[in-house]
Amino acid sequence: MIAPLNSTSVSDRNACKAGLQPVSKWKAYTLAGYPGFMFILDPFLPGWQCYWAKQCLKTYPRKPNICNLDLHMSPGETKDLWEQSKERLRRKGPHKREAKSLLEKLRWVTLGYHYNWETKKYSPDRFTAFPVDLAYLSEQVTAACGFHQFKAEAGILNYYHFDSSLGIHVDESEMDYSKPLLSFSFGQSAVFLLGGQKKQDPPLPMFLHSGDIMIMSGSSRLLYHAVPRVIPNLEGGLLPSCLEHTSTSNNQHSEKDDWEICAKYLETSRVSVSVRQVLGVGQSFPVESDYEKIEDFQLSSYHQDYCMEKSEQKSVMSNVADSP
Ligand code: OGA
Ligand code: MN
Repeated sequence: MIAPLNSTSVSDRNACKAGLQPVSKWKAYTLAGYPGFMFILDPFLPGWQCYWAKQCLKTYPRKPNICNLDLHMSPGETKDLWEQSKERLRRKGPHKREAKSLLEKLRWVTLGYHYNWETKKYSPDRFTAFPVDLAYLSEQVTAACGFHQFKAEAGILNYYHFDSSLGIHVDESEMDYSKPLLSFSFGQSAVFLLGGQKKQDPPLPMFLHSGDIMIMSGSSRLLYHAVPRVIPNLEGGLLPSCLEHTSTSNNQHSEKDDWEICAKYLETSRVSVSVRQVLGVGQSFPVESDYEKIEDFQLSSYHQDYCMEKSEQKSVMSNVADSP
């Protein structure tokens, strides 16, 4: 079923600033029996998926954002995965069995209120600024879908390869379920299973292709879902044609170099970006129990390590600057 969109709430100019086509041109669908579920078929302007994919690979994994590699490595070692991986990725042949670069070992990145995978909670102590560009994109998409004043407060980026999957789950850690859950797909395609309110409810399978946007809201907000398979894009090429790069920047050389690396990565990978509003209007985080405070203490020592490293870097820098 065609979804009604609110094309007056997003001007063509603002859509364009986020890399989106005018809302009047979007192909958006709802699903009978799943109120609040919406699917927008790749609404991006030519070249813009490359921008967003590059942000996911080069910019968003940088500190202070948190990624799976931080669980086993020091903040210094995971400071800039892109810089640490790009040469290895550039040189990588198509079938070579070489050691994986850090970017290839990346599985998830969290943004804004950093999701705690252990406690399954967000907390005010684990917050860093949410990327302004992704917040803007999310605001335009949610406004077009009829949601007012959506605030992008937390993001989970998932990095998939052909052997990856995401288990069945419900996203229920946010505190205001009246706010939609947004998800963007880039790179290779995936099979998405939309389940029901109970784990054993039979799921509805669908394809997610590069550029597609999914919205779970209303009574579909808390449905079970999973990504059992990543599959090569159905067009047959190494990359879907919507990821063909048309450079718009003056700085064409470095942009082309960066895209070469992104393209190589995406030939075997899929990136999904899920954006959430954690708190409702006027809501704040609940007061913590003593047990939770101990956990927070452990987390704050993690942050202290990170800050310490930063200030050590600074003093090294100032030593260099001070020396004759
Ligand atoms: C999630 C999620 C789906 C996807 O991050 O919670 O459901 O397409 N992602 O990767
Ligand atoms: Mn989910």
